[in-house]
Amino acid sequence: MKEFSYSLPESLRADPEIFASVEKELKRQEEGLELIASENYVSAAVMAAQGSVLTNKYAEGYPGKRYYGGCVYVDQAETLAIDRLRKLFRCDDSSPHPYAANVQPHSGAQANMAVFMTVLKPGDTILGMDLSHGGHLTHGSPVNFSGKIFQAHHYTVDRETERLDYELVREKALTLRPKLLIAGASAYPRAIDFERLGKIAQEAGTLLMVDMAHIAGLVAAGLHASPIPHAHFVTSTTHKTLRGPRGGVILSRPEFAKQINSAVFPGMQGGPLMHVIAAKAVSFGEALKPEFVTYQKRVLENAKALAETLTSGGLRIVSGGTENHIVLLDVGTAGLTGKEVEAALDQVHITVNKNTIPFETRSPFVTSGIRLGTPAVSSRGLGTKEMAQIGNWIVKVCEVLKTQTTEAKTLPPNIVEALRKEVQSLCARFPIYRS
Ligand SMILES: Cc1ncc(COP(=O)(O)O)c(C=O)c1O
Repeated sequence: MKEFSYSLPESLRADPEIFASVEKELKRQEEGLELIASENYVSAAVMAAQGSVLTNKYAEGYPGKRYYGGCVYVDQAETLAIDRLRKLFRCDDSSPHPYAANVQPHSGAQANMAVFMTVLKPGDTILGMDLSHGGHLTHGSPVNFSGKIFQAHHYTVDRETERLDYELVREKALTLRPKLLIAGASAYPRAIDFERLGKIAQEAGTLLMVDMAHIAGLVAAGLHASPIPHAHFVTSTTHKTLRGPRGGVILSRPEFAKQINSAVFPGMQGGPLMHVIAAKAVSFGEALKPEFVTYQKRVLENAKALAETLTSGGLRIVSGGTENHIVLLDVGTAGLTGKEVEAALDQVHITVNKNTIPFETRSPFVTSGIRLGTPAVSSRGLGTKEMAQIGNWIVKVCEVLKTQTTEAKTLPPNIVEALRKEVQSLCARFPIYRS
């Protein structure tokens, strides 16, 4: 793909040590398979915007209302980002349900924090998905500000189906009457019924925030139901399926727009990262093109193909399949831990992350699961044939690990060498960036 042409900027040689680290990271990305569900490869244009002179500019405030002079051009960039984001999620002024947009949050966690600061006071009750069932730290985990400042309660998936238990969500919402119901997940392979959650929120008299960080690209492409108009707030990261720079965004019903803006600045952030906002605008522009829908379709097909290969290879997939970009593999039933499988796959240059699975019995540092995702491999052009090949390598790694008798199971060196070569040759056929 032409827009993925990139070479290391020569100017970076001014700092040989950082140049070396960036060069090695580029090589690692090129020569390894990236299956971390929350990662992706941005285009050269996104990187160019992020590495532009916009990084020099302070612009506290919002377009047309800044606390600094000289903001005329960064105003243009931020306005473009806002307009494109609203168009992308079909909530601009021409749509039946216009939402306001804030593109300044530095990250997904800060987008969520801004919503909390808008509608909650310390001690208020929130209800979100349990972290070990697929939720996110910022949805009320006790180790996160959201669980420390607010009374956090959680819903889970159903033990049998391993899918969201909407009746449980309803029961808890009606009993607890939380100020904010939080939907969205980091490790949930199934589609989420936002309409149903919207109805639950309405019945319980609570506000609904949907954190669509993981599935935003699928929602933009119309391949996952949109949380609009069911949620009062929709937050997202921009760097996962959406394939933009690292950052966050907030869409809100118009009546909350002013409060959301104040919560982000001056509430919790200082100057916006204008270079990142420009890069967000570039990525939203890319996502508005028809090719983006083709890309997201491939993300879905690839996840299905991967899940099918793993299942045929005798491994258990949480919930028995996938409806998005995520495949959650249960390696515990094969007598392995997520930690062992992550380390073994890392040795053969397949990058994944260990992950808890619903009703987890192991610690988050060990886990019984592996989370796999297809956004990055789909960006580099891999298709279902290659996903079957990768799935078979994962099956093989698990089979070999199972035969190891040492306490911490690792791959024998000959297997590492053989698999590494195979992975490397597949990667060579699908370069990420062409110079
Ligand atoms: C659902 C969800 N929300 C929020 C975040 C936080 O995003 P960030 O890492 O940009 O703060 C993540 C990141 O993993 C996520 O998966």
